[in-house]
Order: sequence, then C-alpha cells, then structure tokens
Amino acid sequence: MASLRARQSRPCLAVESKGGVDLVTEVDRLCEKEITQALHAEYPTHAFIGEESTFLSTGELSSSSAPFGLPGESAPTWIIDPIDGTTNFVHGHPFIAVAIGLSIHQDVVLGVIYLPVLNEMYRAWRGGGARCNDGPLLKVSGAQSIHDALLVNNIGSCREEEFLQLSFHRLYALMTAKLPGPLQGLRMSGSACVNLALVAGGRLDAYVEDGVGGVWDVAAGKILVEEAGGVVVGWEGEPWVLRMGRGRVIAGNAALVSDLVARMRDVDGRVWRRKRLRVALKVGMIALMGMGLLAMRRRREGATRRSG
Ligand code: IPD
Repeated sequence: MASLRARQSRPCLAVESKGGVDLVTEVDRLCEKEITQALHAEYPTHAFIGEESTFLSTGELSSSSAPFGLPGESAPTWIIDPIDGTTNFVHGHPFIAVAIGLSIHQDVVLGVIYLPVLNEMYRAWRGGGARCNDGPLLKVSGAQSIHDALLVNNIGSCREEEFLQLSFHRLYALMTAKLPGPLQGLRMSGSACVNLALVAGGRLDAYVEDGVGGVWDVAAGKILVEEAGGVVVGWEGEPWVLRMGRGRVIAGNAALVSDLVARMRDVDGRVWRRKRLRVALKVGMIALMGMGLLAMRRRREGATRRSG
C-alpha cells in the first residue's frame, strides 16, 4: 500500500478510458491482480469479482469484458475494488480507497476499506462491529434531519443531459428545502468507498448516489455502515442487494435515510410529471398545428370550388 501511495505521484502513470470519463490505470489492474491472487492462494474454492476483471477458475485473470454474473448461492465471493476513486488517483487527489468485501449466500459478511493516503483501515464483520485502525467501535451519526446533515453525493461518469438535470434538481431541492431547512453541507468525494467508510465513522451523515459503478463500490462499505448501526438501501428504501451493473444507494442512520428516500421520490416524481406535461404539450401543439393546416387546406379547396 505504500507503493500505491508512491505510484500516485508518479508522473508517467498509464491511464486508459473505459468509456467517456471513466478511467482505469495500470495500478488498478496490478492491485486487483495482487489482491485476488493472494486471496485465491488462501481460499482456492472461493469466487472473485473485481472491478477491472474477473478471476477464472484456472487461476488467471480475464478482462472485464468477459461475461460474468454473481456466482451461485453457495460460493463465498470476494468483491474487490482495487482503487476506488480512480479519477482522484489520476489527479493525485487524496480520496482513494482499496475495498474488499466477502459475500456468502449473497449477503456481505465482511468488509475492509483502506484509505491509503489517510492511513485509515476500516473493517467490519457481521456481528463484530466496525472499527477504524485501533479505535473504538464506530457509530453512524445521529443527525435526524437534512438541516443538521453533511451529505455526500457523487456524480460518477455518466454525462447524459437528462440524468445530469435530474441529479442537479435533486441537489437543488435539498439545498433549498424549506422544512426543516436547507441541507447543512454537501460534498462530492469521488469515491463511493470513502463515502461509506466516513458514513460508518460518523464523519459524514449520509451518502446518496444514483449510478454507482458496481457491487465493488458498495459491498465492503455496506457492512461497515450496518455494523456501525446504520442502513444502506436502494432508491425506494428497499434493502440494497448485490446485483451486477450500475446501482443507486442511500446510506446513513435509518431516520435520515428514510427522509432522503422520501425527498428523492418527491423530486423524481415532480421531474417525471413535468416531463410528461412537456411531452403532452408538444403533442397538443403538433395536433393543433395539424388541425390548423387541415382547416386552411379545406378553406382553400372550398374557395377553389366556388371560383370554379
Ligand atoms: C467510482 C467512484 C465514484 C462513483 C462511481 C464509481 P471508480 O469508482 O466510486 O465516486 O461516483 O460511481 O464508479 O471508477 O473510481 O473505481
């Protein structure tokens, strides 16, 4: 991990795009390979899911384009994000994390998140509480309202206009809420795992993101937050489940999370209704123009008949 810190300041880091602004570096791949191979040596029958690749039963890494799904019910599965916050890493920004979660029967039972620049190791296992380094048991914050809350949100790599507009509407609604008052503070860290670790440690009150990159962004942090007394849910407040593909997540203490779920639903509903109204208005305008053109044509035809 010292080498991870050193490599971050290396000027000739090889960076590739996974599509648009989504980046991957040689260090992501190298770290994933080392972590996976070390775990595989200890647990040869277990399955592995990494952000950059998947580990084949032959002991080889395959590229992330290889098809893979969550393994069957019984295989304990290690879920690895070798560097969460790759864009931060590329820029030398300190909010980066290495995350490892272990899921059994689709339930995350163990999680470790290491913040190498801050030298903070967060860890938790089911029933064992969550800790950072040698500190006391972690506890999520007790903030009950957004007016007392420092919220973290990330906008990942999606640059679609409609998605961005909706994302900014949601933040605007929180920043201007009348009741109980506007959000106390808003941050964007660039790392889902840093967010979840800091929520578990009570240094951020809640985390909201629509579009987390995959299970590796949330798996380890989920158990940290839960063992610190908090909850991690999907957009409708449903339990967050391990599923391949992009996801949505809200984490924090139960009261604040349920308030945020309701607020997101409210904004999404309003934006959706406005969009439907705009479409209906457009259709109405087109219909009116069509009727107008038809009437003009009929008048012209009538006049031609009369003059003939
Ligand atoms: C991303 C980061 C980012 C979050 C994205 C993730 P990566 O992971 O956690 O903060 O907004 O959803 O995909 O690409 O840096 O490992």
